[in-house]
Amino acid sequence: MAITVGIAGFTGKFAKRLVSHLLKRHNVSIRGYCRDPSKAPETISSSAQVTLFEGDAFNKDALTVFAKGCDVIVCCYLGDDKLMVDGQKMLIDVCDECEVPRYIASDWALDYTKLKLGELFPKDPMIHVKAYAGTKKVQGVHILIGGFMKPIFSPFFNIYDPQSQALRFWSSGDEIMEGTTYNNAAEFTAAVAVDQKATGILKCNFFQYPESSVAELPSKNSPLLFEKVYGIKPTLESNGSLDDLYKLMHVKREKIPEDIYSYISLFFYYYWINGQTLLGKDLHNDRYAEVKPVSWANFMTQWPLKALPTSFFALNA
Ligand SMILES: NC(=O)c1ccc[n+]([C@@H]2O[C@H](COP(=O)([O-])OP(=O)(O)OC[C@H]3O[C@@H](n4cnc5c(N)ncnc54)[C@H](OP(=O)(O)O)[C@@H]3O)[C@@H](O)[C@H]2O)c1
Repeated sequence: MAITVGIAGFTGKFAKRLVSHLLKRHNVSIRGYCRDPSKAPETISSSAQVTLFEGDAFNKDALTVFAKGCDVIVCCYLGDDKLMVDGQKMLIDVCDECEVPRYIASDWALDYTKLKLGELFPKDPMIHVKAYAGTKKVQGVHILIGGFMKPIFSPFFNIYDPQSQALRFWSSGDEIMEGTTYNNAAEFTAAVAVDQKATGILKCNFFQYPESSVAELPSKNSPLLFEKVYGIKPTLESNGSLDDLYKLMHVKREKIPEDIYSYISLFFYYYWINGQTLLGKDLHNDRYAEVKPVSWANFMTQWPLKALPTSFFALNA
């Protein structure tokens, strides 16, 4: 059956990967909403399956033109709380007005449903948007993936130091960090988008419980993986306990709240490893068997060691 998928935030990193997977399905038409259509790659914008609509997240008239006729809308926005809460609420309202049956929220996150408001503050908008969608006609879809793998090796997290070949960790260093690649998450999302029965929370994660936990990143045992993939033995450096991390992130935030980049990665790290937001084993991976899992080892094998810290920035290409 033919299906029309609307994508808001069409020129973002995740959306581009999502579109490339949707285009492999010949029964799919794509309506893309973005601020600057010229930013869409030519290979995508020239496809007969794609129609582009220009507008900002707060332009209701333009959003309405875009949404009409969509069977599902996927929101790929990323930005400040105004965009993530008010912008998504406006899009949800437009879905209701245009009778779009499903709305896939801009989530792709760890399990934020287990968080209280204010704990991992960048995820607060997701909690608000999920609650809002729950009061509407449109069926909310929320895809949880753990964390994306690429940022883990970037300077943002300061885990891997390419100068000294050190791996730095908080707590015991053996905690599970659930990770999924952008590409796997996009492929999974494409499958969810065309599956008109898929609603509610869907968990996709390709961290293989429990077999490979000893060899996965960034556990203290990750030198096994580093050695296996890159043939080097990194030094292990402990930053401190989980309590130390908790104190540090709050001290930094209280000291200079506006210097968000001095502490935001510490908040992400804390809630990634403290066990509270784990997706666990109750996953929906098997629902879409066409999505081939990429483990931490598979992912690292795809990246030469030198390019690993910048793999995240390559997503902009
Ligand atoms: N779990 C994780 O580790 C993790 C990590 C990263 C991202 N994510 C999730 O992945 C999703 C997408 O992230 P991404 O990396 O693809 O982000 P991105 O590349 O920064 O894309 C964000 C998109 O939002 C659009 N946008 C921003 N402000 C807008 C406005 N006022 N009106 C309309 N559009 C606006 C941007 O448009 P322009 O192209 O015009 O700028 C862009 O298309 C988000 O849900 C994010 O939470 C998860």
